[in-house]
Amino acid sequence: MLKAVWMSDPHFVHQGEVLGYDPRVRLNAAIDHINQHHGDASFCVISGDMVNHGNAPDYQALRDHLDKLAIPFLPMAGNHDDRALLRAHLPLPATCMADFIQYSIQTPNGLIVCLDTQKKGSDAGEFCTKRSSWLREVLDNAGDIPVYLFMHHPPMPLGLPMQDRDRMQDGDAFLDLIAEYPCVKYIFIGHVHRAITGTMRGVPFSTMRSILFQTPAPRPEWDWNSFEPGKEAPNLGVISISGEAIILQYEQFCEQNLGLSTLCTD
Ligand SMILES: [Fe+2]
Repeated sequence: MLKAVWMSDPHFVHQGEVLGYDPRVRLNAAIDHINQHHGDASFCVISGDMVNHGNAPDYQALRDHLDKLAIPFLPMAGNHDDRALLRAHLPLPATCMADFIQYSIQTPNGLIVCLDTQKKGSDAGEFCTKRSSWLREVLDNAGDIPVYLFMHHPPMPLGLPMQDRDRMQDGDAFLDLIAEYPCVKYIFIGHVHRAITGTMRGVPFSTMRSILFQTPAPRPEWDWNSFEPGKEAPNLGVISISGEAIILQYEQFCEQNLGLSTLCTD
């Protein structure tokens, strides 16, 4: 069996807060939870938006925090990340592309493929020819080996009016590619800060809550001017893959108000 932990969108800053939450407190709570309960997992995938502002002090402090994890971690690029700084401060597998934070990990239960969907200077994503050619080659080589994809931006609308506009651009081309390869068994998606699950062209997918702040449900309607973080507690994911079973447990690792700045005293 393969056991892996999945966390998403830490939006780390080395000082101060993000939308009223202290990212250090939230990340530490997630790390403590993983070390206490999931030290037997093979690794922890972090599906992008590693930091909030994409600067060097934040990546360095993030590295110092993540080094406390008892299991290896796999960082990914989101729209808030800086590829060069991410590469300079966080460990990446040897299979990583030179120009993108995109790589594969072989496990006894299949291939984990972490994609780079960043479009520089945009909150929306993209998947250029270079990245899709790389993925095609990986999938060609996978043959009958099951493949599990992780990506920051969703390639399709999810019924979230505010987030859907910032999905991967030309996601249909990506989905056309995936549809050619029955070896792709599951897609794990970040970016939307909500837990949604479904299938797209027959391929199951799940999104993940942020470990920092959540987005509200689409109803009652809201927009970025009226946006306030949702009231749900953060989650991380515990993924078990065994035979043909893929199980994702959404797991709460702290109370909703942990790290909320209005509750902090100094
Ligand atoms: Fe994002």
